[in-house]
Amino acid sequence: MKILVINGPNLNLLGLREREIYGNESYEDLLDYIRRTAAELGVEVELFQSNHEGALVDAIQQAYGRVDGIVINPAAYTHTSIAILDALKAVSIPAVEVHLSDVLQREDFRHISYAGMACIKTFSGMGFAGYAAALRFLAERRPS
Ligand code: DQA
Repeated sequence: MKILVINGPNLNLLGLREREIYGNESYEDLLDYIRRTAAELGVEVELFQSNHEGALVDAIQQAYGRVDGIVINPAAYTHTSIAILDALKAVSIPAVEVHLSDVLQREDFRHISYAGMACIKTFSGMGFAGYAAALRFLAERRPS
């Protein structure tokens, strides 16, 4: 089973940005964590990050026919991007939304998630563990 993990804008600045919200660990630490979790679950992961909406759309489109699941933290584009929503709907790959912070406990503008409308599950406010939960969720729904 192959899962594409997509991270959106500013997540490459983890460890630097708003540490009181996102913690002290870096984006590289997150990638290590995801790789370790995937190895434990016996799934193959492909990791992608971009600060550009179109690049995220391209990554979703290019996943078609290649991966069995998508874990996506679209970051700020969560709350604005109908293009990402449409791309997820277009490819119809089972997708799980992740947010490090608990977006529903933050500003009102973070309460809407367009991407989430195309996702089968959301893990929010669990920090890095949300990515593990998302990977596990997809791995466990793998058809036997
Ligand atoms: C985020 C939450 C978003 O509202 C924010 O714009 C981010 C990160 C999270 O992981 O908590 O950049 O997706």
